[in-house]
Amino acid sequence: MTLSLTQDELDGQGVALGRTLQPGELVTFEGELGAGKTTFIKAVARGLGVTTPATSPTYALVHRYHGARGPVFHLDCFRLRCPDEAADLDWEGLITEGDAILIEWPERAGVWIPTPTRRFRLHHLPDPERRGLELL
Ligand SMILES: Nc1ncnc2c1ncn2[C@@H]1O[C@H](COP(=O)(O)OP(=O)(O)O)[C@@H](O)[C@H]1O
Ligand SMILES: [Mg+2]
Repeated sequence: MTLSLTQDELDGQGVALGRTLQPGELVTFEGELGAGKTTFIKAVARGLGVTTPATSPTYALVHRYHGARGPVFHLDCFRLRCPDEAADLDWEGLITEGDAILIEWPERAGVWIPTPTRRFRLHHLPDPERRGLELL
């Protein structure tokens, strides 16, 4: 099922999702550039109790936020030049420490990403104000 959502609606869905995530979930977000992955993830983070705006430099692969229950990790794999670069990430540490691990561009990390608990895909729609959101 695909939802067609305005940015406000997508924010609402993200916050709601963040509130329902169980400790330790790993969630992936697929979709082309500008599809709304970062927008959605920031809302999910708010639902997890993250109050600080994301100030991390955009070139960082891993962003760490303070959630209500523990660290929330946001990975953006866009800049990986090849999937094997993801092998160098401390997946074990992220899994052990993270209350949630939210991953953009999981395709770019190939086989190195541990099995997600949920997978989402976002995409553009003919209406530029809306995005499609799909639970895979
Ligand atoms: N319904 C919508 N949902 C999410 N973003 C939207 C929507 N409509 C317009 N936008 C805009 O699209 C852009 C999405 O960017 P971003 O979340 O960074 O995408 P991605 O991380 O997938 O590349 C933002 O500039 C946002 O304001
Ligand atoms: Mg992004």
